[in-house]
Amino acid sequence: MRPQEMTKQELAAFKAEALKQYEDYKALGLSLNMARGKPGAEQLALSAGLLDCLTAADFAETDKNIFNYGGLDGIKEAKELFAPMLGLSPENVIVFGNSSLNIMYDCISRCYTFGAGKGLTPWKDCGKVKWLCPVPGYDRHFAITELFGFEMINVPVDENGPDMDMIERLVAEDESIKGIWCVPMYANPTGITYSDETVRRMAALKPAAKDFRIFWDNAYCIHHLTDTPDKLLNLYDELAKNGSEDMVYMFASTSKVTFPGSGVAVMGASKANLDFVKSTMTIQTIGHDKLNMLRHVRFFGGKFENVTAHMQKHRAVLEPRFKVVVDTLERELGGTGMGSWHSPNGGYFVSFNGMNGTAKRIVQLCKEAGVTLTGAGATFPYGKDPDDKNIRIAPTFPSVEELQKAMDIFVLAVKLASAEVLGA
Ligand SMILES: Cc1ncc(COP(=O)(O)O)c(C=O)c1O
Repeated sequence: MRPQEMTKQELAAFKAEALKQYEDYKALGLSLNMARGKPGAEQLALSAGLLDCLTAADFAETDKNIFNYGGLDGIKEAKELFAPMLGLSPENVIVFGNSSLNIMYDCISRCYTFGAGKGLTPWKDCGKVKWLCPVPGYDRHFAITELFGFEMINVPVDENGPDMDMIERLVAEDESIKGIWCVPMYANPTGITYSDETVRRMAALKPAAKDFRIFWDNAYCIHHLTDTPDKLLNLYDELAKNGSEDMVYMFASTSKVTFPGSGVAVMGASKANLDFVKSTMTIQTIGHDKLNMLRHVRFFGGKFENVTAHMQKHRAVLEPRFKVVVDTLERELGGTGMGSWHSPNGGYFVSFNGMNGTAKRIVQLCKEAGVTLTGAGATFPYGKDPDDKNIRIAPTFPSVEELQKAMDIFVLAVKLASAEVLGA
């Protein structure tokens, strides 16, 4: 029976039973973590070959430019290898160091200090700057736009992506809206992929701000978990059809392909945008770690198809973990009205929506029983979930056994928090 339909006595009995099981788990003194989307040790081991695919013996035959200064936008072979991740030509990408978040931060900072392109007014001189934030979304995106003092506007997301009616209306009428964060594929945390229509409408936006930019963070573009992966329409091609390709900056990285601490990141954009980026980058650095780029090229034999084959090995490690999460939610909470979730075809997260007013309490109950979750509210700008209902579950890091225990505790916490809200 759904707790909403229980009598007072039935609800009390339901709560007492959940509490008893919860206390039993608490007594175990566990320490489990489902907070951050980090690859586990088994996944890291898949890329151990990166460590010896270049050795001292390779020095003599290797282009000496690799070891020296220069090559601001990355080595040609790395551009060729990773441009397909973003669906772009190699001349439309720059290969950076290990963090795409770093590039996004720099990109916002550049727009703020120098403008979003040649001859455009720096955002610091534009008065109030507003930013669209599909929610729930990635906390570190929101942290960047908060740091720069932009006013963030929540845009609801459904299974097709963000609410395009709202976006079209807002960008058309408000010149102070300068951009939007998008994770278009297996989004963090919802796991959804933007529909073709969403991408087409995004490409057809007619913003009042001539320097409006879509920050297209395709962090999970090749991170499939099923035989029937989602497909994402190529935004750049759609923009090019409308002559609006300057409207997007694209990002991806190998953080969850090889090593998060020592991968490579790429940025994709139009020639005009890349030229502008390079004009400030050249003051910032003489170039990024080309040896690491070459290592990645060698490890993957220079072929993108080997990168996607490598992702199948990640899938083998991750699929059972996602199954634990979704099966446990389905078994314990399916049809109860105590929560909803989406079983993603890829990415790193499962987004859970509890009853309104339960998320903080669920996270607290889990913490007291030794399970760390991403903080409630983290998936919203300013850490404020207006309904206090969304929790991001990150299944990748714990072992399958640990994850099962953590999920058992999670569903008990959901039952307890829901019973508390219903009883109040
Ligand atoms: C959507 C999204 N973008 C970017 C990142 C970080 O990427 P990087 O490691 O390349 O900085 C993450 C990490 O969780 C993410 O979820």
